[in-house]
Amino acid sequence: MADLASTDPAVFQAIRAEEFRQQSHLELIASENWTSPAVREAVGSVMTDKYAEGYPGRRYYGGCENVDTVEDLARARLLELFGGDHANVQPHAGAPANLAVYLTALKPGDTILGLELSHGGHLTHGSPVSISGQLYHAEHYQVDRETERLDMDQVRDKARAVRPQLIVAGASAYPRTWDFAAFRAIADEVGALLMVDMAHVAGLVAAALHPNPVPWSHFVTSTTHKTLRGPRGGVIITTHEWAKAIDKTVFPGLQGGPLMHVIAGKAVAFHEALQPSFRDYQQQVLANAARLATGLSSRGLRLVSGGTDNHLMLVDVKASGITGKEAQARLAEVGITVNKNTIPFDLEKPTVTSGVRLGTPQVTTRGLRGADMEELADIIARAIQAPHGGDLSPLAARVKALADAHPLPGLSR
Ligand SMILES: Cc1ncc(COP(=O)(O)O)c(C=O)c1O
Repeated sequence: MADLASTDPAVFQAIRAEEFRQQSHLELIASENWTSPAVREAVGSVMTDKYAEGYPGRRYYGGCENVDTVEDLARARLLELFGGDHANVQPHAGAPANLAVYLTALKPGDTILGLELSHGGHLTHGSPVSISGQLYHAEHYQVDRETERLDMDQVRDKARAVRPQLIVAGASAYPRTWDFAAFRAIADEVGALLMVDMAHVAGLVAAALHPNPVPWSHFVTSTTHKTLRGPRGGVIITTHEWAKAIDKTVFPGLQGGPLMHVIAGKAVAFHEALQPSFRDYQQQVLANAARLATGLSSRGLRLVSGGTDNHLMLVDVKASGITGKEAQARLAEVGITVNKNTIPFDLEKPTVTSGVRLGTPQVTTRGLRGADMEELADIIARAIQAPHGGDLSPLAARVKALADAHPLPGLSR
């Protein structure tokens, strides 16, 4: 980055500092990962310079032959990974992908039914602070109070009561497996369309380690930067029936020119996800999450729903006497990055919360395995269970040793 260093030392320094932060901390934010150097080369390429409004073969600008190649590759590889009739790889992120589906399938005032935000849902699934909860009438299903899992009888009862035009399945913080067939049966019964937002589990789905929503859904949306380990972005997979309408909504309805450098990065990430080694990686993500969950439970921490089936877990830190905010701060102090998170039926505000969400995609990418997860569980449990004002520096030294043993390749240390 010699050019950047001389042109703009302030930005250069910030990027170097971020490299150091990523290298020296353990990232357990469930929605983050570490992209390959190949993905970052594509995203940092001259494709950022090209205007390409429209779709391959149907652009409003000249000179699009090379960007057409990468967008065609991205679309074909996405469908090869997940199946489905039609792919749109232009959404700039997950939120506009979801909005594009709503704008395509619904009229303002129609009812959408999604998972309650504080039970693991996402803002774009009908929260009042999101356009999805302002343009549409939003209703929410919840997890069962006892099991803290989705109970499909309760989801069906809710759908029968509110008669939504669109049901949204998928979550930001749900540690259990989704039954998409059951969602489709409910959608059909009440005359609703089904959208699955698989942003969190997309990598697991690509590796056939989580049920695939595509055969059951009218629309599947995803981000590309979580378990899927691609660049920051969104995608939509849909049926033939909705293909034209979705494309029209994404452009020109919602967005202008596509981010062709990011689409190039998506194409590379999908290529990587098609390799056998990607399945090994996702299997390790699951094994690491299971080991971390068992390690935390055996040290007395309460996990929402008792554990995890996927790459993430929610720890009820209130049961250990601190808030999610405090737990996030303590873990930051020892060098572990997490986010505070509401847990089902949380009595704390979203800015405080009773839980933290932990995920294993990024630490798995940097090579942590079974015994490392045991060590991580011990550090996390000790940090959360420490007395107020206790000395956490011995834990910070243990995190540093783990991070040093598993460097992120190519980043300064
Ligand atoms: C389930 C789900 N959908 C959508 C999004 C939004 O994605 P983005 O931040 O790329 O807009 C997220 C982000 O965390 C998510 O978890």
